[in-house]
Amino acid sequence: MFSRRLPPHADLNALTQALVRRRLEGAAVIDLTESNPTRAGIAYPPDLLRGLADRPALRYDPQPCGLPSARAAVAADHARRGVTVDPRHVVLTASTSEAYTWLFKLLCNPGESVLVPRPSYPLFEHLTRLESICAAPYDLEYHGRWEIDFGAISAAPQEVRAVIVVSPNNPTGSFITSRDIERLSMLCRERGWALIADEVFVDYPLETDAPLTDLAVRSHVLAFTLGGLSKSVGLPQLKLGWIVAGGPAAARDAALAGLELIADSFLSVGTPVQAALPDLLDRGAAVRGHIHARVRENLRALRGLARSFSACEVLRTEGGWSGVIRVPATRTEEQLVLDLLEHEGILVHPGYFFDLAREAFIVVSLLPEPDAFAHASARLLQLASS
Ligand SMILES: Cc1ncc(COP(=O)(O)O)c(C=O)c1O
Repeated sequence: MFSRRLPPHADLNALTQALVRRRLEGAAVIDLTESNPTRAGIAYPPDLLRGLADRPALRYDPQPCGLPSARAAVAADHARRGVTVDPRHVVLTASTSEAYTWLFKLLCNPGESVLVPRPSYPLFEHLTRLESICAAPYDLEYHGRWEIDFGAISAAPQEVRAVIVVSPNNPTGSFITSRDIERLSMLCRERGWALIADEVFVDYPLETDAPLTDLAVRSHVLAFTLGGLSKSVGLPQLKLGWIVAGGPAAARDAALAGLELIADSFLSVGTPVQAALPDLLDRGAAVRGHIHARVRENLRALRGLARSFSACEVLRTEGGWSGVIRVPATRTEEQLVLDLLEHEGILVHPGYFFDLAREAFIVVSLLPEPDAFAHASARLLQLASS
């Protein structure tokens, strides 16, 4: 009855089943998978959303790519990182996930593919499948930092239309380097691929100096940078993301015309959030600062704790909201995460959830309240080492 685009979804995995059981029993859980900043005890200015109720929000003026004032606010916000963006190159979406689907509609015919990093966050499988296209993975390998395996990219199938870079990547936290972007751009030029750069975590650099950002603005090939309120100011519930298009003018402008047509078919971004956007981006800086301080504090605590557990290694985290811990493979990742939940009431992600190639890794969110984070991390390191 239903289309083949729908990913399989009926079965709950063992970890989810154990979590459901634990919650039904009313037992406490310290959630180190929490990636929702609105549930992490982050301080938000109480009147941060005041602009949503302002008069301009009462007037519906459908604009496919977004209200000019909102597009200008996104463009102006890029000045924080020292880049100049033309508001006409900004397209607003309801989320970064929606931005992906619009770009897939723009660039790919059904059955074609996009190259996606592995490990990375698991939504790609669904987003591509729902658009009747395929996600062809290319590996990131850890050699003290995460590096792209160009072998897989060079051997990419014919029907690839675009390569996705997530910088910094979730969960590896790795920023792409200028050397790698040069190589990728050369391949894009040779093969006619577009570059899609997901930079939703760009404002959260950690263990790195001067990371490369705003890839579309700097690109010599057709490229798109994705960002959004959900990470840049910790407001996922407002549902506003953006695409910044870049590259050679003719290709960029043709892409923008295509995106305008797609956007016009949905008109999915609400007026209140667009009307409030200049104020949200301005005053949201305080929230961004709190989140940045939180992830820094938790990463520092995790590193400090890990010093007492020589069998575990916290991998280099250049940016973002996640930490990756290599743990002894004395039991499977699945067994370890189940043991942690059942015996300690601590919920973490196994590495395989993000398609890490080998066992055994644990991924933790760096967002939770510091006391709970430090307590749970210590227990996790202890159990993993035992
Ligand atoms: C790397 C990355 N890109 C995009 C998204 C989705 O963001 P949005 O809430 O804007 O759809 C996520 C969500 O966690 C993410 O980790």
